[in-house]
Amino acid sequence: MAYAGLPGEVLVTEVGTRDGFQALDLFVPTATKIEILNAFVRAGFRRIEASSFVSPRAVPALADAAEVVAGIDRSTGVRVACLAPNPKGAERAAAAGVDEMVTVLSASESHNRANVNRSVAESLEGFRVMADIARAHGIHVHGAIATAFGCPFEGEVEPERVAGIAAALADLGIRTLSLGDTTGMATPPVVTACVEAIRRQAPATEITLHFHNTRGIGLANVMNGLQIGITRYEAAVGGIGGCPFAPGATGNICTEDLVYLLHELGIETGIDLDALVAVSRRVEAVLGRTLPGQVMKAGPRLTRHSLDSVRHAKG
Ligand code: COA
Ligand code: ZN
Repeated sequence: MAYAGLPGEVLVTEVGTRDGFQALDLFVPTATKIEILNAFVRAGFRRIEASSFVSPRAVPALADAAEVVAGIDRSTGVRVACLAPNPKGAERAAAAGVDEMVTVLSASESHNRANVNRSVAESLEGFRVMADIARAHGIHVHGAIATAFGCPFEGEVEPERVAGIAAALADLGIRTLSLGDTTGMATPPVVTACVEAIRRQAPATEITLHFHNTRGIGLANVMNGLQIGITRYEAAVGGIGGCPFAPGATGNICTEDLVYLLHELGIETGIDLDALVAVSRRVEAVLGRTLPGQVMKAGPRLTRHSLDSVRHAKG
């Protein structure tokens, strides 16, 4: 039984090799990306956002998306999703054999322009073509709305505006949707207002929450999400991540910290926390810097230390 009437089960999507790696200056070798992704699969993830089919000039770190997808062991039935912002990305994602393509646009015009060089209306027009491409290949289309809880250029984003985009996506047959907190502007009241507006304007849409921990309240936003009945979350191993086209963007909520919280709440994820922490350490070694994740440093709460490891206060 989950704590305090919260849902018994949650779907956690790992986005580290996409959201986490997209802004890196260094190019993580393709074989290393595949090794990390297959470690996620073994740790029990059922859905992974592996890479992006975007312009290799815009995001050189993910230029190897097709090879990466080809290397993932899908024998467990894991669903492999990849970002695709335009019809060309959809064609490439379909050819690579993804299970899901994630069509991304922003709720705010200025971030959509900075991110994909289009107006919101132009992005939606492109999604119509993408939905046809996906349908022809039997691929699921998942929507992603960036800057859903605030925009680094425009400030407040009205919930009704996000909900209007959700309704436009639903009209195209896109009824699973991630709400992206691109620069960590989400708070519990902001998220609740947005979710309620979507539930009114696009009632059949299934919502996933995608938080960044930019202002330190990422897991508080998850707690609120659970309380309002959201059972799908995206997070990045070690708390890496951030959009290269949004000033001040920092890491996603950390997957192992999220999984730790969910398990402590009695919520099932199917993910092996120890195995996930091991991947996080591996990613830390690959990136050559300390990651923001906290459970990877402190261990779960009942981690016990030898008394010999501290100096005693002696009089
Ligand atoms: N994959 C690979 N190449 C692509 C592409 C895709 N999905 N979409 C466009 N291109 C190529 C075109 O073929 C063209 O190449 P050429 O100059 O050699 O002929 C070039 O990119 C420009 O194409 P255009 O359609 O004019 O794109 P643009 O310059 O308006 O850029 C995007 C639009 C979407 C391709 C680009 O902004 C992008 O990739 N953004 C990435 C956004 C992102 O990943 N953000 C972080 C996650 S939210
Ligand atoms: Zn993100």
